[in-house]
Amino acid sequence: MGSLKSQWDALTARHEQTKDRSILSLFDDATRASDFSAQTGDMLLDYSKTNIDRETRAALIGLLDAADLGSKRAAMFSGAPINDTEGRAVLHTALRNLDGGPIFVDGFDIMPGVLATLDRMRIYANHIRENGVTDVVNIGIGGSDLGPAMAVDALAPYHDGPRCHFVSNVDGAHIADTLRGLDAKTTLVIVASKTFTTIETMTNARTAKAWMQDHGGDPSTQFAALSTAEDKTRDFGIPAERVFGFEDWVGGRYSVWGPIGLSLMIAIGPKGFDAFLRGGQAMDRHFQTADWSENLPALLALVGVWHAQVCGHASRAVLPYDQRLARLPDYLQQLEMESNGKSVQMDGTPVTVSSGPIVWGAAGTNGQHAFYQLIHQGTRIVPCEFMIAAEGHEPELTHHHDLLVANCLAQAEALMRGRSIDEARDKMADAGLSGTELERQARHRVFAGSRPSTTLAYPKLDPFTLGQIIALYEHRVFVEGAVLGINSYDQWGVELGKELATALQPIIEGTVDTSDKDGSTAELVDFLQKHRS
Ligand code: F6P
Repeated sequence: MGSLKSQWDALTARHEQTKDRSILSLFDDATRASDFSAQTGDMLLDYSKTNIDRETRAALIGLLDAADLGSKRAAMFSGAPINDTEGRAVLHTALRNLDGGPIFVDGFDIMPGVLATLDRMRIYANHIRENGVTDVVNIGIGGSDLGPAMAVDALAPYHDGPRCHFVSNVDGAHIADTLRGLDAKTTLVIVASKTFTTIETMTNARTAKAWMQDHGGDPSTQFAALSTAEDKTRDFGIPAERVFGFEDWVGGRYSVWGPIGLSLMIAIGPKGFDAFLRGGQAMDRHFQTADWSENLPALLALVGVWHAQVCGHASRAVLPYDQRLARLPDYLQQLEMESNGKSVQMDGTPVTVSSGPIVWGAAGTNGQHAFYQLIHQGTRIVPCEFMIAAEGHEPELTHHHDLLVANCLAQAEALMRGRSIDEARDKMADAGLSGTELERQARHRVFAGSRPSTTLAYPKLDPFTLGQIIALYEHRVFVEGAVLGINSYDQWGVELGKELATALQPIIEGTVDTSDKDGSTAELVDFLQKHRS
């Protein structure tokens, strides 16, 4: 096994040797597609449309061995405190450990508590579903919003409970627009905050409480809380029987599997939620047992590392051809960028390669009519991650789904294949052009090609499959973080802005002057204060 440094060096050399090769040429090998794809259950990851060949893959897998990934994976699943800047275990996987096999934190089996909370959630969700609640408003932000909001949208065909709404932004527009039209007497407000101190969430929660009081509802019975801080939920006036707690070994962006997923459970029912958990658990087992060369999270991570750290592509686009996954890119932005957007390694020394990439994207086909121009012909290469289901949920609209699939596959093919200058010239000649005008027009129609993509294909976006997808990405983040040597489970980079916002609040309110502020900030405060009516 080589050292990490020698593996990085080998990969850099490999990139130099292969960077001018066309991806399409790799398909001269008739086994390329099957050899460079992997499956778990009914889910297929195809990474054959990348410039990774057998030698490169071996070097990438060598990186996992050099990073001692097997031991790190075992440490995470066993409850070791791998989040070592906060001294915490990382055990979102325990929330989907439905068989309840023991997991110890500080010598204490956490599973009885996890399963007891899950049972309380089921009873409460059924109670809400069966007792005339028409609307549920989840108030939370970041991991206390993005996961359930994304999953509730994703599983719309499985909704048979009250309508769910999500308020996150401290901009009063968000809560005002959400509450308008709701009946305070039949609305449940869920305050979702791990810490129960996040300023946006607590401000919105107080506004919702006042709204309910003013509109004939009863906050003392129509509020529930999802939090690790039970003392603070009590101070807010939410009794213990409607508080669903979790422990500090569940990171905010990994928390949809437990109490933070309550709105999802209310929307699709406890059985649907169990199927979601089982999907996540199935991916855990696959991640723990499959060889690296067949292991979807490891392979997705290695493709990511190849593109971001070795080839130097600064971003990657997530492109679900699945309208109900439209919020997945937002969710993955937090999951990936809050986890791996860091400059120092575990020991405090600088990372030796670039940190995790910028993650962005949108649902296909909409993105095709917005930013795909740049993906196809821009000077920057954006590795793309396509996702597509074999079938949709609209049996009467299969022709829509056929078109969706055709578009997804066509985009990946176009990115890889490209169009040469000679092909463009032929096209222009067919269109009747000649001479310098033919040449000028042809150049605008050239596609460089060899633009890499992966495709994740699955039968249908049901609760089990969504669970698999989310757990796949969680473990991908873990593997990338391990290879980079960073702690994927803290988020110190969000602290400074929060501190400065707290300090700025009295300045904006006009009770403190701007003398401590830089010229730009002072000028902006002045402008905004002057333009208030
Ligand atoms: O953005 C920082 C962060 O701490 C996230 O990690 C977290 O998901 C979010 O704020 C919300 O935190 P809480 O659930 O404690 O309100």
